[in-house]
Amino acid sequence: MTKANLNWVVLGPGAIGGLIAGALLEHGQSVSLLPRKSEPREINWQVRHKQFKADYSAPVITQPLAENTVFVIAVKAFDLIEALQGITTLQGFNKTMPVVISHNGLVELPEPLKELNLHPLVTTHGAVISRNENGKRRIEHRGAGRSWLEVGPQGRVQPTNFAPGLILQQAFSPLTLEEDLSQRRWLKFVINCVINPLTAVHQCANGELLKKNWQAQVYSLVTEAVAVANSQNVSLTTEGCYKEVLLVARETALNHSSMLQDVKQQRRTEIQQLTGYLISAGKTAGVATPTHQQLLDEFQRSYSD
Ligand SMILES: NC(=O)c1ccc[n+]([C@@H]2O[C@H](COP(=O)([O-])OP(=O)(O)OC[C@H]3O[C@@H](n4cnc5c(N)ncnc54)[C@H](OP(=O)(O)O)[C@@H]3O)[C@@H](O)[C@H]2O)c1
Repeated sequence: MTKANLNWVVLGPGAIGGLIAGALLEHGQSVSLLPRKSEPREINWQVRHKQFKADYSAPVITQPLAENTVFVIAVKAFDLIEALQGITTLQGFNKTMPVVISHNGLVELPEPLKELNLHPLVTTHGAVISRNENGKRRIEHRGAGRSWLEVGPQGRVQPTNFAPGLILQQAFSPLTLEEDLSQRRWLKFVINCVINPLTAVHQCANGELLKKNWQAQVYSLVTEAVAVANSQNVSLTTEGCYKEVLLVARETALNHSSMLQDVKQQRRTEIQQLTGYLISAGKTAGVATPTHQQLLDEFQRSYSD
């Protein structure tokens, strides 16, 4: 595959998908969109950065899929399975097509979907999507971040040979290609399992969690989550993860977590793909997670999810 002949199909586009699709277009790539609902043949969206704004448009996909199609699926974790199943039914789909997936939380995929050519992407960009009065998508890029892409699966592909990764590295920089992202995904998962539900239940900004009165609970949440990660052969340490949680809380002190924003706007949250997944993985591995269970109970008492 060369730079010129990749055909990117981006689902949505939502906040992260729209950022990536825009960046690929800026880079001269061929991009089409796969919206959830039927839409006009062309979709327009705007990305607003701090200093400037950019307008983009891309066609809705046509079938059969072009050769050398690469998918970008940045959806909420609870939509991942349906999104993956959806692309497998497209005319011309084949299992060797690379599928970049980006979501918070962890999702246990059914067997047939595990065989897809999946490439997890972790990103620290911050973006929020809304629609204007004409229904046009507007993405506010609130925080420039960095990203990591797994070139796998299972480290079989060398970073230097993975064309979609090399293109994303240039178009959506800074982006690091890694053979195996499991440790980085679990670290982000642990951080999200602490910050998201706590700030949602207590309706506070992330920085609130730095206060002394939270530390016993934060530390317990980290300890249990790390024990579950270790049971999955992911080598994280409690001290290391606790420091990272505090660092993220400090760096994003004034921010409201995505889960707090979701509950405020009465949108479905990713609590089941975060705390729910952790508790369930803990049960299977025989690792107790009482502090997370307590937090989930509190969350469910506050919000029926
Ligand atoms: N936004 C951020 O700053 C950020 C940062 C880091 C990580 N994340 C994580 O990244 C993931 C994506 O977040 P996001 O904020 O980009 O979400 P989002 O704005 O809700 O975008 C998701 C998009 O995917 C579409 N979609 C869902 N299922 C689909 C399907 N089956 N077919 C076609 N399109 C489908 C949605 O369509 P509808 O509009 O019709 O639902 C929406 O356009 C989440 O797990 C989030 O937690 C987000």
